[in-house]
Amino acid sequence: MDKLVINGRKRLSGVVEISGAKNAALPIMAASLLAAGEHNIANIPKLRDVMTMGRLIANLGAGFHLEDSRAILDCTAIGNYEAPYDLVSTMRASVLILGPLLARLGKAKVSLPGGCAIGARPINLHLMGLEKMGAKIKLESGYVLAKAKRLKGAQIYFDTPTVTGTENIMMAAALAEGKTVIENAAREPEVVDLANALISMGAKIRGVGDSVVEVEGVNRLSPLDYNIIPDRIEAGTFMTIAGITGSDITIKKCRPDHLDALINKLQDSGIRFHKVRNGLRVVGPERPAAVSTKTMPYPGFPTDMQAQFMAMMCIAEGSSVISEKIFENRFMHVAELRRMGADIMIEGGTATIRGIDLLKGAPLMATDLRASASLIVAALAAEGTTTVHRIYHLDRGYEKIEEKLQRLGAEVRREKE
Ligand code: EPU
Repeated sequence: MDKLVINGRKRLSGVVEISGAKNAALPIMAASLLAAGEHNIANIPKLRDVMTMGRLIANLGAGFHLEDSRAILDCTAIGNYEAPYDLVSTMRASVLILGPLLARLGKAKVSLPGGCAIGARPINLHLMGLEKMGAKIKLESGYVLAKAKRLKGAQIYFDTPTVTGTENIMMAAALAEGKTVIENAAREPEVVDLANALISMGAKIRGVGDSVVEVEGVNRLSPLDYNIIPDRIEAGTFMTIAGITGSDITIKKCRPDHLDALINKLQDSGIRFHKVRNGLRVVGPERPAAVSTKTMPYPGFPTDMQAQFMAMMCIAEGSSVISEKIFENRFMHVAELRRMGADIMIEGGTATIRGIDLLKGAPLMATDLRASASLIVAALAAEGTTTVHRIYHLDRGYEKIEEKLQRLGAEVRREKE
């Protein structure tokens, strides 16, 4: 197991290039199951979760390898239809193969993902949607068993917008008979990227990026040749790093239009943004101002940026209130930030943060992906040395984070436990 050792309070400067979006790469890799032939997906980030999805798909009989940042998947022969517990238990997004397998083979057996550090995270809406499309679903010994001769188009309403739920249904509907209408669909840029990838395969989808999405099923899809969007959460994390350290960072290969809610809040906090070719220059203030926010489905403030934003608020001038509205237990970083001296009070899903002058380095434990990122953000601004243990969580979502930080002048090193 690795840990990161960070000496904080350095002003950073220079250019950072953002990798492809993990949460777009995963569903788009799963979409390759919908068509026989060789798929080519570019701008794939080299991450643990991407490797897990590759192994999962290979386990079904497909070929999978990475060539630099390109994933090559040969989905000509899909013989197996099972996603086993040992793979699903390491990555919840494994559930994304349920829709494509059911559409392609008429059956799927996928281990039911358990809860995770940030909440219970049920998949009832995925299953409800597939049942509406005619699938027979049973839960047996911890597995979801789904069958359907051919899925049929249906009207599906989500009580709450679900990202992977919308993605699963879109993929299943692409090869179903007739029209599927998804109401209250998730509108995240990663959902849009998957829709665009499916369209490039020959799927008929209308309302991409809207809350009502219509998918007219087709009989066949062709292999992917697609380029993944940049990771908005990685870009957002570097924005908070510029904000908390008062640094001047140019973020290249990013899509600021995917980050309107975050950029708005960061501007209110005193961070300045300048458009540059293919990205943004981000200039942090001497000290950020306290700004309150609450997480919401896109285009609201992303839950995946809540922890990093909170880290920045720990040293802001004044008090801020941050409400987490998506996941019931996404404040795991708070106890660790408190160990650095942060003044945070939690009541239910709301945190009140009183900005202090300076965080102090401490040994910390990473608990989930974005919580880990928030500890890195805090450590970069803290006085003294911070050691972040269990960074395998971080490796699930951030490609070469320490190298990118080192290039900006940060004092960060990876060590074995
Ligand atoms: N929900 C249900 N039933 C369902 C599905 C979801 O009640 O069947 C609820 C969830 O409990 C939650 C809300 O709906 O309260 C939204 O969850 P959603 O389904 O949108 O989350 P997800 O699809 O499991 C994806 C990302 C997460 C990100 C969330 C929210 C992927 C692979 N994962 O998860 O990313 O936080 O959307 O934007 O796309 C991360 O990258 O660190 C991460 C956790």
